[in-house]
Amino acid sequence: MPVYTLPDLPYDYSALAPVISPEIIELHHDKHHAAYVKGANDSLEQLAEARDKEQWGSINGLEKNLAFHLSGHILHSIYWQNMSGDGGGEPLEKDGVGELADAIAESFGSFAHFKAQLSKAAATTQGSGWGVLAYEPLSGRLIVEQVYDHQGNVGQAATPILVFDAWEHAFYLQYRNQKVDFIEAMWQVVDWQDVARRHEAARSRADVLLLAP
Ligand SMILES: [Fe+2]
Repeated sequence: MPVYTLPDLPYDYSALAPVISPEIIELHHDKHHAAYVKGANDSLEQLAEARDKEQWGSINGLEKNLAFHLSGHILHSIYWQNMSGDGGGEPLEKDGVGELADAIAESFGSFAHFKAQLSKAAATTQGSGWGVLAYEPLSGRLIVEQVYDHQGNVGQAATPILVFDAWEHAFYLQYRNQKVDFIEAMWQVVDWQDVARRHEAARSRADVLLLAP
């Protein structure tokens, strides 16, 4: 029985067009995300086998594979939920997401400054990576992380609440080499209600580290 399963998309393949084409969404979810789910399950299975046999020759590779595939599964699972065909704009109090708007302003100075930092972090990934808005529980602040692959360059314990996939598989069929244009377009489909829900959930577990800031 696999531990991880591929979640259904919360919308049709065409729901995010024209920002993201149906062809990209189908391949990205059904093939790429599915491969990370399988990879995470396979890694756990191979680690269980290593324990049973007490054969640790592949431990480094197995732990790396687990981090890569599990992080890929988690980030993509958030990614689909972060987007909506009715998304875009910026978080506003009148839409019931005032606390998120305030947290962004406190942590980054303004929404414009936050948008610039996340856009730049995502668009300048070298090779494959992500731009991520995360809740950092020690300070209670929001931070932007530039993630290598799915799991590198990440501080411990921060919870991703808005993720921009900057891997070529996320845009190349439609945007070719224009990663900057893709990242700019992504803002049109951000579902701020979903981001606000994730922010609230992360805040409610803020003492998870049991440390003073
Ligand atoms: Fe992806």
